[in-house]
Amino acid sequence: MEKTVVLLKPDALQRGLVGEIIHRFERKGLKLVALKMTKASEAIIEEHYAHHKDKPFFAGLKKFMMSAPLVCMVLEGKDAIAVVRKMAGVTNGREAEYGTIRGDFSISQSNNIAHVSDSEEAAKEELHRFFEEADLHDWDRTISPYLYGEDEL
Ligand code: CMP
Repeated sequence: MEKTVVLLKPDALQRGLVGEIIHRFERKGLKLVALKMTKASEAIIEEHYAHHKDKPFFAGLKKFMMSAPLVCMVLEGKDAIAVVRKMAGVTNGREAEYGTIRGDFSISQSNNIAHVSDSEEAAKEELHRFFEEADLHDWDRTISPYLYGEDEL
């Protein structure tokens, strides 16, 4: 099954939205395989957002991402990357559809509640950037046969 990374940003933590957002992922049927809080270093944020380093918002983004701990998780499921991207909504909270995480909780392009992996390559890189092998739990979820058809497992 595919794995994807979600980083709940400092606005989610400050606003008490962490439980609500994890609840959404659990109810969808995504399997939580890693969960931790971490205060990201400047080096990690610079690496994570390297593709934005020349953008005018980069300094503000770095400051924001280091202003409180991040709640980092790995979710597993069939097509988990695409499913979680859809649940997150588009980057700008003002444009994100109602029913998505950003559409429901954000009115900002920068303070948009969560970062989610946008491709298989990004998911792999982010998994290694934010987690160690021991953070990942390969637990047996007994309800999986009720969440998926036989051909999907
Ligand atoms: P994220 O999905 O984590 O990827 C890059 C982040 O940069 C994005 O969410 C926003 O937090 C931030 N971002 C993207 N575009 C802008 C912008 N135009 N102004 C400010 N912040 C932005």
